[in-house]
Parts: sequence; C-alpha cells; structure tokens
Amino acid sequence: KLYAVVMAGGSGTRFWPASRQRRPKQLLALTGGRSLLQQTIDRVAPLIPAERVLVVTGAGHAAEVAAQLPHLAPGQILAEPLARNTAAAAAVGALWVAGQDQDGVCVVLPADHLITDESLFLQTLAKAGQVAHAQGQLVTLGLTPRYPATGFGYIEAGALVDGQAPQVSQVAAFHEKPALAKAEEYLHSGRHFWNSGMFAWSAGVFLAEVERLLPELAQGLARLAPHLAGDGRDEWLARIYPALPSISVDYGVLEKTSRLRVVRADFGWSDVGSWEAMGELWPADAAGNVCQDGRILAIESSGNVVAAGGRLGALLGVNDLVAVVTDDVLMIVPRDRCQDVRQIIDQLRAAG
Ligand code: GDD
Ligand code: MG
Repeated sequence: KLYAVVMAGGSGTRFWPASRQRRPKQLLALTGGRSLLQQTIDRVAPLIPAERVLVVTGAGHAAEVAAQLPHLAPGQILAEPLARNTAAAAAVGALWVAGQDQDGVCVVLPADHLITDESLFLQTLAKAGQVAHAQGQLVTLGLTPRYPATGFGYIEAGALVDGQAPQVSQVAAFHEKPALAKAEEYLHSGRHFWNSGMFAWSAGVFLAEVERLLPELAQGLARLAPHLAGDGRDEWLARIYPALPSISVDYGVLEKTSRLRVVRADFGWSDVGSWEAMGELWPADAAGNVCQDGRILAIESSGNVVAAGGRLGALLGVNDLVAVVTDDVLMIVPRDRCQDVRQIIDQLRAAG
C-alpha cells in the first residue's frame, strides 16, 4: 500500500514578497485556486486516499496547513518544533507509516511543485511504488534536464532494469547540487537526470538505510517511535527534535546509498523555484511578458514577469524585469537575479 509523506516545511524565501514567514510558497495559490500543498494532495488522490497522507510541516504553519486540508485528521499533520531538513522529515514520515503498516511504501512528495501531465505522473509514481515494494530499493523520480540547473540533484543512470516506459534504471551515482561546470557537463551527457525530489521507498527499507548512514538520526527517532501515534506526540517532538542532525535526504542518504533506482518520465514538472520560473507557468503575450491573471498592457516591452495582485500591469519600454505587488510591497528585480531575492529579506531582517 502507498502512503504519502508530504514535506511542507520550506520557508520559501525566494517568493518574497508574496511568501512570508507566515505564508511560505507551498501555502500560496500561485496557479489556479488551490495552494501548491492542496494540489500536491489532490493530484495523488487516485492512488493514495486521504487517510494515508501525512503532512510534515513546521509548527508555525500547522494551523494554516490544517485549515487548507480540513479532510485530514489532526494526527495526519505532524508539526516539527524546528526545521531539521528533509532527512529528518522523511524519516519521521517513514516511522509514521511503519507504525500503521509494516509493509507500507512511502511516497515522499515536496509540497511545492507543479505538474502538468498528471496521468503520466500517476503512472510513474505507481511504477516507482512497485519497484520500491518488490525490489526493496529507494526509488527517485527523474526528469530529463532542460538547462544546467545548479539547484537540483543529478542522477547518473546505470544499467536499464526495465525498458518499458516509464523506464527504470540502476543509479551509478547521485550528485546533489553540482557547480555550474558540472551541471553543464551533466546536461549534455545523456546519462544524467534531474532529481525531482519525489521518492518512493518501503518505510522499513528507508529506516534501515537511515540507521546505517545517519545513526544519530536513527537513535533520536528510535526514542520518538513509541509516541508518534499517541497524545503526547508534540511534547516528544519538542524533546527529541533539537538534537537531531540537520541534513537533507539527498546529501544524507541518496548520495551514499547503493540501493537506488530511478524511474524516468517527463510529466511537465516545475519546482516553482522562483518568480523567474513563473515565466514558464503563467500565460504570456506575444512579446513574452507573463502575468499571473493575464491583465497586462505592454508597449515596447518584452520578457517581463508581472504579479500585480489583480491590478493592471502597465509596461512601457522595459525588458526582462520581474515586478511583484502585494498589499505592502512593490518589488522590481531583473529576471536573471530572482535567485537573489533573499538578499532583500536579509537586509530587512538586519534592519529589524
Ligand atoms: N517538513 C519539512 N521540514 N519539510 C522540509 C524541510 C524541513 O526541515 N526542509 C525542506 N522541506 C521541504 C520543502 O518545503 C520542499 O517541499 C522539500 O522539502 C524539498 O526541500 P527544498 O529545500 O525545496 O530542497 P531543494 O529544492 O533545495 O532540493 C531538493 O529538491 C530538488 C528538486 O526541486 C533536492 O531533492 C534536489 O535533489 C532536487 O533536485
Ligand atoms: Mg525545492
């Protein structure tokens, strides 16, 4: 049986000013009426019913998560007292699944991705679940790289295990967030795939790998396990979480494990990494200006991304800018500097 472990703990600083500490990216409705988190759970519903979903989120966001997902029971929203990165979140999820079902397979899903071809996605996920269950492997969903991203992990495919689409391969190596020169090499090799950050693994197999590769995490979790389903869960989380190591599942487990498989498919994926990424997701005019709700008047202007909160975006003689308006902020940055929006937040914090 498949269980969804939804990782919704990110702070989404790259979507400032729309995302704030209180409202990170996964809780925003960037496309359509539903938030990225809601879409993540809606999308897998044909494979994974609501009662087999666990959302792992930060304590500061748990109330908003619960409000967005009224069909989940309170026990299905696990509030981390502080962020300990994705290895901890995935491992806590695996413990929760193992507590309900010894043979349960976790489908680990980031709460902040968009997918256009949902039926191919579900087909790929079902296959990943089968490989995880039948072969006792950690399985990652891989995609053909489109540009030399340095913010993604790259999976170096080994021998083909199953040639029928979506194809399954062994993994020769996993390289998390390479430098640009390496990313360019991987882009053209034909053997490297983007790690989507979505995984399938048997709870028991994953926990055994955590025990081998991240023993400190495993020790902390062993103390937590008996309390994950009970009333005192939050107190135990508060007691144990601060001492857990903070490392991502990619660096902590995937780069090191030898039990890794990749299932490959191109289901129209975006990790919605920044305002710049919205350029691919929102409607564009002939000059490549994109706007969240399509209301834009552009004269001698091209390549701009405008999020004007329902207002008319009027442009004259400007190119390749991102302009975002919220109730209290107007932000303007060049499109190729979206990754640096963080600097604004850092300055504001420093200024108090
Ligand atoms: N519960 C919880 N707790 N969730 C977390 C935490 C945490 O401490 N930290 C991050 N998350 C959630 C984020 O909200 C996101 O949904 C997911 O886990 C992945 O974390 P990111 O911080 O977004 O990772 P990344 O984008 O840098 O890299 C990962 O995703 C890429 C694809 O988007 C890696 O898996 C890369 O290899 C991959 O290519
Ligand atoms: Mg991400």
